[in-house]
Amino acid sequence: MKEVLSFETKDELENSLLDFFIIQQKNAIEKKGLFCIALSGGNTPLSFYEKLANKKNIQWDKTHIFFVDDRMVKDDSNVSNTHQIKKVLLDKIVIPEENIHFIDKSLDENDAALEYELEIKSFFKEEVPSFDFILLGIGEDGHTASLFPHSDTLKEKNKLVVSSSTKQESFFRISFSLKLINHTKVVVFMVVGNNKARIIKKIIQDKDIRCPATHVKAKEKVVFFLDSKAAIFLLSM
Ligand code: 6PG
Repeated sequence: MKEVLSFETKDELENSLLDFFIIQQKNAIEKKGLFCIALSGGNTPLSFYEKLANKKNIQWDKTHIFFVDDRMVKDDSNVSNTHQIKKVLLDKIVIPEENIHFIDKSLDENDAALEYELEIKSFFKEEVPSFDFILLGIGEDGHTASLFPHSDTLKEKNKLVVSSSTKQESFFRISFSLKLINHTKVVVFMVVGNNKARIIKKIIQDKDIRCPATHVKAKEKVVFFLDSKAAIFLLSM
């Protein structure tokens, strides 16, 4: 099931997403005592992560945080998702160290992807790895996570974690595969700004399969949290 929510401002979007996150956390903890999430990088979610860091009564001791993707750069690099998310969220909350599952950047991209997949599988033990909540962004080209248009990673049917690269970047990326993302219970896309309006229409309205984000599904629901600028081309919003 896909749901599209549009908010006048990014601040309103983030406040609503905060409430949504807390409900998902409450449901998951009530059901199995744990809340397993994966967060994306990029600029869009950073202010949301700041709100999350300042929110009281979040049960971080029962929450496990993974990274949807990252660039194979030093952890203090500004283009590292880990670095950005640590700065605005992880360094500001009280959470057991073992609840944060970092990608091992000391390995090459193939070994790092393999190691992360093994970490995810061992975390979920005998169960099929299924996150409770994943937050994704969307690039202007329709990419999500580090799954880019025309990339072979989109055809991956077995691996849970893949390595990818783009012609414009000098570094490799590690990313959840579509297979892993699509096993998630609830997937949230957080997209704001005029510059994303065209691609949002292509994905939500036109269902353009050339856009990797169009292929994202979820076991329960995919919810688009949009601001009015990103939603402007959607009919009857
Ligand atoms: C990344 C993200 C990527 C991001 C989009 C949108 O590592 O950069 O996983 O998929 O969500 O590129 O980025 P912005 O939020 O900066 O527009």
